[in-house]
Amino acid sequence: MKNLVLYASRNNTTEETVLRIKSHANDPIDIYKISETGDLNLSLYSHIYIGTGIYGGRLPYSVTSYVKKNKVVLRQKPVTFFIHGLDSQDKYTKIVDQGVSRYLEGNPYESIYLGGKLDISAQSFIIKMILIEIANKNHFDPNNADTRKEEAISELIKRF
Ligand SMILES: Cc1cc2nc3c(=O)[nH]c(=O)nc-3n(C[C@H](O)[C@H](O)[C@H](O)COP(=O)(O)O)c2cc1C
Repeated sequence: MKNLVLYASRNNTTEETVLRIKSHANDPIDIYKISETGDLNLSLYSHIYIGTGIYGGRLPYSVTSYVKKNKVVLRQKPVTFFIHGLDSQDKYTKIVDQGVSRYLEGNPYESIYLGGKLDISAQSFIIKMILIEIANKNHFDPNNADTRKEEAISELIKRF
């Protein structure tokens, strides 16, 4: 059975990681945007990876609602969440748990944190202000917001 990668990406970080997985994969895998899965039969896959960015301290609704909708199959599969976020190193497991643990009861799913990236120039005024505050708190340059962890990303890619 193949591995499956599902993802949601509003600012392309997760998409970039998924493209790296795709180009380096040794074994056949299927990859879908979570919004374009249609009636995908999850029971056909051996391991399900779900990638997403964090927004406002949460997983996007598209991700939590997908997990809820497919909880019966997902409870029976190895599931790994890979998470991009600019400053959630200390919080990501809690954020994933808050979003999906109630649907995946009994499944010891895994969460991996990969840091994040954001092009500030593409954001609205309010988001820029929030980003500058986050950047100051975490000592990174808001005009070059990239806290991605290359080692963690490479380790993830090697699994495929
Ligand atoms: C409106 C907004 C809210 C965000 N909120 C958070 C947050 O709460 N925690 C965090 O670590 N990163 C936050 N980020 C940063 C994103 O998680 C980061 O840019 C990530 O790389 C996005 O992944 P994606 O492009 O695949 O969606 C936020 C970004 C935006 C634009």
